[in-house]
Amino acid sequence: MTTDTVGTRLEGKVAFITGIARGQGRAHAVRLAQEGASIIGIDICDQIPTVFYPMATREDLAETERLVKEVGGQIVTTIGDVRRREDIEAALAAGIEQFGHVDTIVANAGIMPVIGPGEQKQAWFDAVDVMLTGVWHVLDVVAPILVEQGRGGTITITSSAAGLRSIGLNTLPGQAGYTAAKHGVVGLMRLYSKELAKDFIRVNTIHPTGVNTPMVANAE
Ligand SMILES: NC(=O)c1ccc[n+]([C@@H]2O[C@H](COP(=O)([O-])OP(=O)(O)OC[C@H]3O[C@@H](n4cnc5c(N)ncnc54)[C@H](O)[C@@H]3O)[C@@H](O)[C@H]2O)c1
Repeated sequence: MTTDTVGTRLEGKVAFITGIARGQGRAHAVRLAQEGASIIGIDICDQIPTVFYPMATREDLAETERLVKEVGGQIVTTIGDVRRREDIEAALAAGIEQFGHVDTIVANAGIMPVIGPGEQKQAWFDAVDVMLTGVWHVLDVVAPILVEQGRGGTITITSSAAGLRSIGLNTLPGQAGYTAAKHGVVGLMRLYSKELAKDFIRVNTIHPTGVNTPMVANAE
């Protein structure tokens, strides 16, 4: 990750990112800040019991803040859970109070409860709650704000290659939930992109394959 300031393409823009404490969310925050955007972020910074690798910590979140500031960016973060609509509302409100508006949404927070005891039926619910319902919460909260602002905007949802085809090696509850959630957000993207196009708001999913983050590069 470079820390050089490389452009001003996002000067005056504000980006809201979920799952910002580390991994891809952190990388998006630093890269957008390098281009001049101010950053609003939320992360749970806690463990979800069905997840068998260490999730992000408060120290990780502080490191994201440090890296954004290092490239000259401004950042407001909140510890909160995308499964809770009110946490998303609070994080956004804190950022909008500071920066006045929001332009770019990155719905990135995710978990991969696909390892560990296979009998954990709860892993299905956790995967769907975080990566499908959590994304819907983001869309449901931010879409009216973007429309009301009248300045267009972009919404990017982090799906996965697992949202395009099956990459699962098993049908355990966490794997099934991950696959269903990552396919499900494609439907949400289609629904919201059609609805929001008239307001110059673009909605996309992205579908990474393997990315070298603690989600997949861990000791478990
Ligand atoms: N790493 C990969 O190979 C890969 C591949 C395809 C898609 N993805 C997706 O990319 C996204 C980012 O993952 P990553 O690779 O950076 O992993 P990561 O584990 O490093 O980062 C995920 C972040 O989301 C946060 N988070 C999890 N649940 C949350 C919740 N309920 N509320 C708020 N924050 C929460 C975590 O604390 C963590 O900081 C995820 O949606 C993931 O499914 C990852």
